[in-house]
Amino acid sequence: MRAAFPSAWKRGVYEAIARRRDIRAFRPDPIPSEVLARILSAARQAGSVGFMQPWNFIVVEDRRIRTEIRAHVEKERERAAAGFEGERKERYRAYKLEGILEAPLNLCVTCDRERFGPAVIGRNTIRDTDIYSTCAAIQNLWLAARAEGIGVGWVSILEPDELRRLLGVPEHVLPVGYLCLGYVDGFPDRPMLETTGWLPRLALAELVFFNRWGESPPPRLSEALRIEDTIEAPNAEAEDGTRAQHDRQGLVLVYTGNGKGKTTAALGLVFRALGRGLRVAVVQFIKGKWKTGERLFAAEILNLEFHVMGRGFTWESEDLGRDRRAARDAWARAASFIGAGEHDVVVLDELTYCIHYGFISLEEVLTSLRSRPTYVHVVVTGRNAPEELVALADLVTEMRPVKHPFEHGVRAQPGIDF
Ligand SMILES: Cc1cc2nc3c(=O)[nH]c(=O)nc-3n(C[C@H](O)[C@H](O)[C@H](O)COP(=O)(O)O)c2cc1C
Repeated sequence: MRAAFPSAWKRGVYEAIARRRDIRAFRPDPIPSEVLARILSAARQAGSVGFMQPWNFIVVEDRRIRTEIRAHVEKERERAAAGFEGERKERYRAYKLEGILEAPLNLCVTCDRERFGPAVIGRNTIRDTDIYSTCAAIQNLWLAARAEGIGVGWVSILEPDELRRLLGVPEHVLPVGYLCLGYVDGFPDRPMLETTGWLPRLALAELVFFNRWGESPPPRLSEALRIEDTIEAPNAEAEDGTRAQHDRQGLVLVYTGNGKGKTTAALGLVFRALGRGLRVAVVQFIKGKWKTGERLFAAEILNLEFHVMGRGFTWESEDLGRDRRAARDAWARAASFIGAGEHDVVVLDELTYCIHYGFISLEEVLTSLRSRPTYVHVVVTGRNAPEELVALADLVTEMRPVKHPFEHGVRAQPGIDF
């Protein structure tokens, strides 16, 4: 069995790895508790020797404690500067190496060296495997934080004993990583110590040996390693096609009429927008029961959120109360997409039916469109677009039926009709 991830998942993992950076400058906005909980949960899923899970996570917000830790780091940093000579010493001094006070929170990741001990499977020979395990947890945390758009800076210019004292950590527990966490203005493409010329990134082809230390791999592997070395660092511009969003005029586009092709037109536009690196949210208000092609495909696509209304309103529905609730839920989600500004394009597929049935108020929809961030494009599809919506829209296209295969008995075709 080949158990590789679907391509979007796989890409997400490699992107998080390539785009992770050590961060020393933070925005002050707080990290929501549920986001922090997700990141910590990623940490605790790391491998650990004998499954001993030696870690704890001390979330440090208290400013007085952080000020003391920072003072200690400053002292240690001065001491470390003595290890460099001349120009390098000055450069070291000029580097910003921590963001302890700017970050909304700090996190100390510790290793309990006695957890489930004294005998731990696998830790007889290498006593430090508990510390290795804790580092694996920190790396998980670092990657998950990156995926959440949160920067992590590892501050190691401090004495573990001093950290123990300041945080009240018991003697048998080792503080392994002291981290600063927070949102950032951007993630550099490459390590700061690389771009400033402190050290280069080592070539993979020179790091990999075959069978014995110092021996080169066979040609096929050498070639593959060499190709990896030619692949450029990720480019922050490419990540975010939304950079120019603040100069952009968001449009309201309506595809209406009795002819087929309204959803298809909207999805064509989604395809185009994704190609430009825009972030897209689609809320389908009707097709709850159907497994449409677009729904199946959407799960694999980066930058695309695809929501299908609950168990959804369908033409065959017998429970209008349930339909109303599902429509309200879907609208709540759609309205938050439109207002939050995290998506460049929001598609409200078949919304007009829900307005028509009185499940969603037209006034609410119009208010949400009028008050949206100026750069957000919104696409609405469905028959009988209300007049007020047509008036507000920048583009309205009416699909007109000319011919339909239904008329000569051809049934709906997968990949064409759904
Ligand atoms: C164990 C460890 C300790 C580190 N300590 C510090 C530190 O005290 N200050 C700092 O600015 N960066 C620190 N870093 C960050 C490294 O400088 C950084 O990871 C490296 O330059 C590569 O850059 P990148 O993480 O952005 O890819 C530390 C990283 C690790 C893994």
